[in-house]
Order: sequence, then structure tokens, then C-alpha cells
Amino acid sequence: MFEGKTALITGAARGIGQAIALKLAAEGADLALCDLQADWLEETAGKAKELGRRVECYSVDVSKGDAVNETVKAVEKDFGKIDVLVNNAGITKDGLIMRMSEDDWDAVLNVNLKGTFLFTKAAMRGMMKQCAGSIVNIASIIGLMGNAGQANYAASKGGVIAFTKTVAKELSSRNVRCNAVAPGFIKTKMTDELPEEVQQKMLSMIPLARFGEPEDVADVVAFLAGKASSYVTGQVISTCGGMVM
Ligand SMILES: NC(=O)c1ccc[n+]([C@@H]2O[C@H](COP(=O)([O-])OP(=O)(O)OC[C@H]3O[C@@H](n4cnc5c(N)ncnc54)[C@H](O)[C@@H]3O)[C@@H](O)[C@H]2O)c1
Repeated sequence: MFEGKTALITGAARGIGQAIALKLAAEGADLALCDLQADWLEETAGKAKELGRRVECYSVDVSKGDAVNETVKAVEKDFGKIDVLVNNAGITKDGLIMRMSEDDWDAVLNVNLKGTFLFTKAAMRGMMKQCAGSIVNIASIIGLMGNAGQANYAASKGGVIAFTKTVAKELSSRNVRCNAVAPGFIKTKMTDELPEEVQQKMLSMIPLARFGEPEDVADVVAFLAGKASSYVTGQVISTCGGMVM
């Protein structure tokens, strides 16, 4: 499905980003893998290479404009083009608003929202030129419903959803699509850190009565990245076991 296509995935070292990379590789994509440090990407890269794909790894902090621009330039030089961009890198720094520091607010907004803007801006030029491309942003159901203790994260992911719709409107005339996936509770290092009682409370709110796997998100990303969704843009698909309807 993605033979001859290049997919750039941010935060690809582990968790959901790794699952997305491996799903796209299994379907034929060559991979430009990005994370804070290139050596963290060895596991993802090794598995993708076993699938016969071309893989390059890039160290980049998604919240730094110059580094993002240099990375996109390097990827375009190495692969010739970018067909799929997945803005997946994200962090949490939870706390009630009363106690939330300005630094924790800025850190989460800078990675989750500004990082999505910077990579989209850098990659869209090439996509507009080739009149083809698909951008998939990883939001969260918290960006749709809010969550006590996650004001910074909720605002960042709500921003990602609004940004997704705006990119879709600005780029659709060039056949570049932009959609978002809003995962619910997915089993990764990010959610492992939550206390057991919080995890059990979450589980009781999930109609499908199980936590999601990174692969559940990757399947939806692959749909939005590829030809099967060629008439879909500006949409948000919740992948949350029915937690939000
Ligand atoms: N796990 C969940 O339940 C869940 C739910 C909803 C949304 N999400 C979103 O899915 C995405 C992936 O989450 P995950 O659970 O796999 O998290 P994770 O912490 O396991 O992985 C995140 C990856 O992003 C990288 N990263 C962090 N900051 C970066 C930066 N500044 N520049 C480059 N890379 C950076 C990390 O090194 C890591 O490899 C995030 O955007 C997250 O908000 C996760």
C-alpha cells in the first residue's frame, strides 16, 4: 500500500510512534524516524529493516524550529520526498492548574502543539509542490473532553485538533490531506506511570472494557495516511474503545 512512499514519524523510538512506524513499514513505506536522540531509534529501525524497508534516523527536538527545518531538509535530501508525516511526539507534565508551573505549561505546549506546527510547516512545502501528501496528527481524547490535572495537555491536544482542521482547509486545494487520531487510554510508558487506582477508574469508563494497544492506534493512522482515506480530510477519529462518543 505504501510501496515507494516515505513516511516521517516523530517520537518513533517507542510506544505509539514505534507501532505506527512498524505498521507503515509492514505496508511498504520507507521510514524517516525522528526522536530526541537518533540512537534511541535503533530498536524501531532494526525491526523495520527486517521488513526490508529503507530506514534513516534523525535526532531532533520537535519544539526547536531550526532543528526541525534542518531535519526535514535532510529527509528530503535522503529520500527525495515526504509522502506521509505523522506528528506523534508528545509529553505530559500533569498537575492541577492551581499548582501548575509556567515551565510545565510551556514544555507541554511546546512539544505537543508547537512541534506539530513546526513539522507541518516544514514538510508542507514539498507536499504542496508534489500535489500529494497526508499528514496525521496524534491528538488525544483529552483534547476533546478535558481532564482534571491535565490542563496543559488538554489545551495542547485541543489545539492540535483545531490546527488539523485549519491545515486541512489550507492545503486541500493541493491534494494534501490532514487528519487527527485521538487515542484514549493506550498501554505505553506514558500511561504505565499512572497510579493503579487511576488506571482502574479509566478501565471502568471504557465500553470495550480493555485498554488500547499501540497497534490499535497504528491501524487507524495507516488508514488515514493511505489511499483508502483519499476523500477524508480535517477529521478526528477517536481510538478509545468507545470512551468518547
Ligand atoms: N499512551 C496513551 O494513552 C496516549 C493517549 C492519547 C494520546 N497519546 C499521544 O500519543 C503520542 C505518543 O504517546 P506514547 O504513549 O507513545 O508516549 P511515549 O512517551 O511512550 O513516547 C513518546 C516519544 O516521543 C519522544 N519525544 C518526546 N519529546 C520529544 C521531543 N521534544 N522531540 C522529539 N521527540 C520527543 C520520546 O522520546 C518518545 O520516544 C503522544 O503525542 C501522546 O500524547 C498517548
